Amino acid sequence: MNTNEPTQWQVKLADLIDGMRKLCRAARHYEPGTGSMPDARGAPLAILSPDGIFLSANRTVAALLGYTSADLVGRQLLEMAAADFEEPLANELSASARRDFHSFRAVLAGRTGQPMRLMLHQQSVPAGQSGRTALLTLFEESLLPLPEPASVTRSADAAARERLMYLTMGQQKERQRLSAELHDGLGQALTLVKLMAEDALMRIRRGQVDDAAQLLDATVLRIRETIGDVRQICGELRPQMLDQLGLPAALGSLCRRIERSAEGISVVFDCDVSDEDVPEHLKADMFRLAQEALNNTVKHAAATEVTLGVRLTTGGVLMTILDNGIGYENRPLSTGDDCASGLGLIGMQHRVESHGGTFSIQSLGKSGTLVSAAWAA
Ligand SMILES: Nc1ncnc2c1ncn2[C@@H]1O[C@H](COP(=O)(O)OP(=O)(O)OP(=O)(O)O)[C@@H](O)[C@H]1O
Ligand SMILES: [Mg+2]
Repeated sequence: MNTNEPTQWQVKLADLIDGMRKLCRAARHYEPGTGSMPDARGAPLAILSPDGIFLSANRTVAALLGYTSADLVGRQLLEMAAADFEEPLANELSASARRDFHSFRAVLAGRTGQPMRLMLHQQSVPAGQSGRTALLTLFEESLLPLPEPASVTRSADAAARERLMYLTMGQQKERQRLSAELHDGLGQALTLVKLMAEDALMRIRRGQVDDAAQLLDATVLRIRETIGDVRQICGELRPQMLDQLGLPAALGSLCRRIERSAEGISVVFDCDVSDEDVPEHLKADMFRLAQEALNNTVKHAAATEVTLGVRLTTGGVLMTILDNGIGYENRPLSTGDDCASGLGLIGMQHRVESHGGTFSIQSLGKSGTLVSAAWAA
């Protein structure tokens, strides 16, 4: 048995949620020295084996390193070290394997070969029987030279200025990444469509009408795919429905869409909040949390009913997603699966908790799963 096969590692969701909470708490201590990347897709997260193999990676970390999630799984983090930085990275990784939590700096090159200065936070989480552990890893991009942790005694003013600078630089980086995605993805797709249309035109001029018709059929398919890509990129940046409809109506529409597309499940929307009740900066997070949790219900719960609830509480707002499915407790996390990173929920937990909210998930035995998040409003 190859023990480095990603599917041999079984990390339970409850352990991962607990690990994420510990990691965030411990990583906060290092925050003054690093620039956390505000990426629209959420924090770059991965699960590594103690010897540095990617067992699972979300799309943000994959984009950061220039791969797809499926391409990253099975690779060694050490392979990504920038030239001359392999040895320090190997030392840090072996320190991580011996500790519960370890933060360190690394210079990684990723696929493009362009060196990136990163801060890695690693928290060990149980991964199957016989005391095996895996490393939940948060990648933070350091946008400026990192000061030594000892130099963290700065004035509040300097700290605020630095934060603003990180934020602006983070936005710049995200724009660069988005522009690369538009260029490499959409740019290429449109070039291909143009070539196909020109080819069809040429065939029509030569009288090869049937060939041209076939080519145009293929072109239409390609255009449809490209429209899908555009929608996905836009949706990731900001769910459009939020601006068009406001949060409650956008959530209602999400519920109806999910009910239509999934068979045998009724989606109940129970909301007593108006759009003005919810602070603007929380709306996208709330929408994404609902989206992720409802999709999880459809994908994993085998439920017949799920209820999305939104309520005002004393001093805040509460979102709950309750299904009557099989519960998550004894289901292993699907690391190694091409189309899932198994990091969707803890990505949401990170998003909620890094914006001052609290996140929880409970398995209710045979009566389903409850995901809830509360924010002070
Ligand atoms: N409502 C649910 N009912 C039963 N199991 C669930 C539910 N939600 C999540 N799970 C379990 O928790 C695991 C982790 O969920 P998570 O959203 O983090 O990952 P994923 O859905 O497998 O992959 P991704 O979201 O990255 O595409 C799932 O693989 C599944 O086993
Ligand atoms: Mg998911």
